[in-house]
Amino acid sequence: MTATSGTFDVARIREDFPILKQTVNGKPLVYLDNAATSQKPQSVIDALVRYYVTENSNVHRGVHTLSQRATDDYEYARAKVRQFINAADDREIIYVRGTTEGINLVAQTYGRQNVGAGDEIIISAMEHHSNIVPWQILCQEKGAHLKIVPMNDAGELLIDKYEKLLSARTRLVSVVHQSNALGTINPIKAIIELAHNQGIPVLIDAAQSVPHMPIDVQEMDCDFFTFSGHKLYGPTGIGILYGKTEMLEKMPPYQAGGEMIRSVTFEKTLYNVLPHKFEAGTPNIAGAIGLGAAIDYVNQVGMEYIAAYEKALLNYGTDCLSRIEGLKLIGTAREKGAILSFTLGDVHPHDIGTILDAEGIAIRTGHHCAQPVMERFGIPATARASLAFYNTREEIDALIKGIDRVLEVFS
Ligand SMILES: Cc1ncc(COP(=O)(O)O)c(C=O)c1O
Repeated sequence: MTATSGTFDVARIREDFPILKQTVNGKPLVYLDNAATSQKPQSVIDALVRYYVTENSNVHRGVHTLSQRATDDYEYARAKVRQFINAADDREIIYVRGTTEGINLVAQTYGRQNVGAGDEIIISAMEHHSNIVPWQILCQEKGAHLKIVPMNDAGELLIDKYEKLLSARTRLVSVVHQSNALGTINPIKAIIELAHNQGIPVLIDAAQSVPHMPIDVQEMDCDFFTFSGHKLYGPTGIGILYGKTEMLEKMPPYQAGGEMIRSVTFEKTLYNVLPHKFEAGTPNIAGAIGLGAAIDYVNQVGMEYIAAYEKALLNYGTDCLSRIEGLKLIGTAREKGAILSFTLGDVHPHDIGTILDAEGIAIRTGHHCAQPVMERFGIPATARASLAFYNTREEIDALIKGIDRVLEVFS
């Protein structure tokens, strides 16, 4: 595609996403809800169809040809993921349903094993509910405490406050890489280093970062790292938990059943080797293969190109929105991904979303599964436009026109 020629041809890229060609409410679709889920290129759709049409079969258990083919493709996709995030070993790549399951897995295995009464887990003030509630449940069960890293009015974490929270009782730090509600990109290398100085492991919620920037988990040195396939232009129902081998080896299994065992008698069960120890039951084979195809696709475009293009689009969108009277951007961190969260005077975000929908523009409104963020900013909800590399300046212009229309209706 385009990366090899050193240019970024968005018109050409859009051709690869069939859903973008449609009209909604009589207007060309402007899809700006990519933080919720992103659209799928034809190659991902084709990979799913090819799997079901030519090789549908269960993995790992069959000697027949289809089963071997399905197993090869399923495991090949794992290798693609390993390469994509630069993990050291395929055994460190565990298939899960998505970020939510990745975090719950760590809470229920590492957490249950290592957290006791009076211990502490640190998260941040800008977490998605899926990086809050699993830890609350664990803390309730164990009599442990959740500590929260605060943020400033721009939506940036206060790292000096974080440093003070780290203690001999801290068992884990679990923070988001890029906030879905604010767009903030957190300084996770510093966050990890500070925790590691005290021997504390770190989990990174990468749901919003993996689709938008190059990732190197070894360079980052995180202990756990989790993301969802459906935000990375892949299918729903598939995601990844990366864990360092030495962490995963020590952890008990998450779910129990087929695949995760080496041998079973009524007296004793021996668990399977990594990564299968954490993959009980028939997995989402098609999803894994689809995720592999999504990775092939973004690799072909080039993650550096994607990041640079989206940054330019964010700057353009920020400029345009900042000029609208009464519009307030929520989330103005210096390091920011392509998310534009805002309020518009007294207009309820749901009304903004409804009027924009009539114009064919899809944004998200509400608390974005981050109610504590809304509380921090003293608002019930925001309207959020979240961008992807197939979005254009013209679509930002359409958003601005749509907001003008909202203002007209409410004037
Ligand atoms: C930052 C963040 N973490 C976690 C999640 C949960 O992802 P999933 O619903 O795919 O498990 C999301 C989804 O929006 C998110 O934005």
